[in-house]
Amino acid sequence: MATTTVINSLSARVEQQEPREVFYQDVIRGLSATDKYLDSKYFYDAEGDHLFQQIMHCPEYYPTNCEMEILREQSAKISQTIRTYTPHFDVVELGAGDATKSIHLLQQLQKTNKAVTYYPVDISGNVINQLEKTLPGKLPSLQLHGLNGEYFEMLHQANILSAKSKVVLCMGGNIGNFTPPEAKKFCRQLRRHLQPGDLLLIGFDLKKHPQIILNAYNDAAGITRDFNLNLLRRINNELGADFDLTKFEHYPTYDPGTGACKSYLVSLEDQRVNIGTQSFDFATHEPVYMEISQKYSLAETETLAMHSGFKPVANFFDTKKWFVDCLWLCS
Ligand code: AVI
Repeated sequence: MATTTVINSLSARVEQQEPREVFYQDVIRGLSATDKYLDSKYFYDAEGDHLFQQIMHCPEYYPTNCEMEILREQSAKISQTIRTYTPHFDVVELGAGDATKSIHLLQQLQKTNKAVTYYPVDISGNVINQLEKTLPGKLPSLQLHGLNGEYFEMLHQANILSAKSKVVLCMGGNIGNFTPPEAKKFCRQLRRHLQPGDLLLIGFDLKKHPQIILNAYNDAAGITRDFNLNLLRRINNELGADFDLTKFEHYPTYDPGTGACKSYLVSLEDQRVNIGTQSFDFATHEPVYMEISQKYSLAETETLAMHSGFKPVANFFDTKKWFVDCLWLCS
């Protein structure tokens, strides 16, 4: 896992260090299904991390810049709003990465809540070590306690370490890499680890002109294509498969009705791929479903909040209104 990762797939963050056997079983299950699929949580090996860093710099991939603008420009307002609900709290960030965005908010929160402790949670020990080295240089008076491990376990740890209210940050729009039912399950689980009065700041990529969304997942430089194909390379390298990457084509789709942006790899010919003792036949034009990046309307974010035990209290948009960081109160 690259230490510079800013955002990563939520599911990857939760379960990234799967043993090889689980990876193998998941791949076999996905490719044995009638409609073949691979789990996008496996995108993020070292090369996948590197490619995702590049995606975030692609001109077509807007979510990172939109959310950065929100945090850069509106952290004072977000901090003020948080204070109206809870004056004394600690901050837990799920999938903290290098905290490039949250640092703006932490700066503001510290102004009025000097005793705040920041608990960055990340499945990568590297990420936590790096944060513990670099953050004190940027925010010298911030109390910092890194938590390396699975999200919900670490949230439980944070609750043992601190009796204060919690402000949980879940940024990057990673919730979009869950289907809507999975997102609801995740939010409900999150809610069960929080107390009434705690707050959640959660980022969603919003529905917008379909072409803008399609372009974001089909950048002209082909980085997103390579990001998807990299999972086949990973399967070759780690599970001894013989995928020929030139025989699959990246095919992103967006349904403006449902807000589901899905990417597929389409087989360009009839072919057989071997993974150890197993073999899989792909027909010409057969798709392998790779990833969902669900887009939401504001109303849908509010429904999700209410169906998972939160009350939406404020929304912070970028100037184009392409992305929203929602503040939800545990009711
Ligand atoms: C990590 N996640 C929010 C990204 C997204 O936009 O769904 C992953 C990604 N996949 C292709 N491009 C970016």
